[in-house]
Amino acid sequence: MGIIGLDNLLASHTLFASPESMHAVFRQLRREDPLHWTAPEGHPPFWAVTRHADVIEVGKHADVFVAEPKTFLLTNEELRVREEQTVATNGKLIRSMIHMDGTDHRQYRGLTQAYFMPASIKRLESTIQERASALVSQLLEFEGGCDFYNEIAVWYPLKIIMGLMNVPESEHAYLLKLTQELLAPNDPTLRRAGTEGQGKGPVAKEYFAYFGKLLEERRATPQTEDLASLIAHTHIDGQPLGLMEAVSYYVILATAGHDTTSSSMASGLYYLLQTPGAQAQLRANPQLLVPAVEEMFRFASPVKHFVRTATRDFELRGKAVRAGQEVALFYHSANFDEDVFEDPMHFRLDRGKNRQIAFGFGVHACLGQNLARASMRAFFAELLARTEDISLDGTPTFISTNQVGGLKTLPIRVKPAPLTV
Ligand code: HEM
Repeated sequence: MGIIGLDNLLASHTLFASPESMHAVFRQLRREDPLHWTAPEGHPPFWAVTRHADVIEVGKHADVFVAEPKTFLLTNEELRVREEQTVATNGKLIRSMIHMDGTDHRQYRGLTQAYFMPASIKRLESTIQERASALVSQLLEFEGGCDFYNEIAVWYPLKIIMGLMNVPESEHAYLLKLTQELLAPNDPTLRRAGTEGQGKGPVAKEYFAYFGKLLEERRATPQTEDLASLIAHTHIDGQPLGLMEAVSYYVILATAGHDTTSSSMASGLYYLLQTPGAQAQLRANPQLLVPAVEEMFRFASPVKHFVRTATRDFELRGKAVRAGQEVALFYHSANFDEDVFEDPMHFRLDRGKNRQIAFGFGVHACLGQNLARASMRAFFAELLARTEDISLDGTPTFISTNQVGGLKTLPIRVKPAPLTV
């Protein structure tokens, strides 16, 4: 493949719909040009960061590599459309902590940091357990097999995060659809029909309308314990959050809080089942669940990349990154780095310390990672306890997105555990 072919592929969404091609491209880059200057057609150029050590190095220098103004790669045409759609909002579709730097970032993240710490997550254990039991019961009702991703995985983390925000059950399906449209704007079946060429604008607008109403409702009533109420009533420097920031907070929690975990559940199960002997090993040694879940996160790496922009010249892996240039952090590639993971393509339950960075690294490292871990462990513990065997029942498909995604379908068959009286 010529360099233009490679660069076009790296900036594309289709690469991630084919795990074999994706692994081949990133393996080659890690080996031959780990910090690759990428100049795709119709696209601003960027540095592709593909090694674990370099993702960490960028994460350690949050003052040099900043989140503003861009979080995901966009084509020239997408940038033009974005500019048009955001004249009134200073170039922003949403403005959440993920888009902020420095003091702003610290203050906004600080608002819910305590809520997501392990001690708080512990208080949520019974809620998480209830959801896990309900979803496994639902799974066992599919006697003829089911599409694990769409029937089960998409619902479990969605119900947990929407429960924490106290969003009514009747609206979960609608919000699921909006999130899928927002995070896979280029997937031919998931993207919003009829909005080709309009980027994320129409979906973001709808999210805004929905959560703007929720914000009003929460502000009209005294503060309660739910996350949406906390954000509605909180202050920064003595002021309530502005409409853009408050609604964006809801959007980031609602979107980051479920698609990623659903994707990890489905990929995790897929790679567990694909690896000869792994399911039996895990069933016989339930203490391996904790390392198994870390390996599931590594294999899933649902967040494919994030972009940072250099504020000054910086030497990275012996190359000069210039002020104003963009770097794309390819987390999936970092999680298969041969320098860090022995036999990286092998799904192993005995990795010991697993240095996976599916949750990113540095000041923006995932705020919800304790919730994601607790949710995954509870689900798989319940699933393994109530089944005797799970098997693949066809070929899965993958989402075409370079943002957040993974499996699109996962057909499985489940043999329930015999009932004990
Ligand atoms: C398997 C599950 C998850 C994965 C793989 C994941 C991955 C990530 C990654 C890679 C980032 C860093 C983005 C960057 O570098 O700019 C991030 C940030 C974030 N995640 Fe997660 N996430 C997961 C689950 C969750 C959950 C359950 C929540 C719950 C609400 C959540 C909320 C957030 C938030 C708020 C941020 C922004 C943090 C900041 O900018 O300071 N995530 N996540």
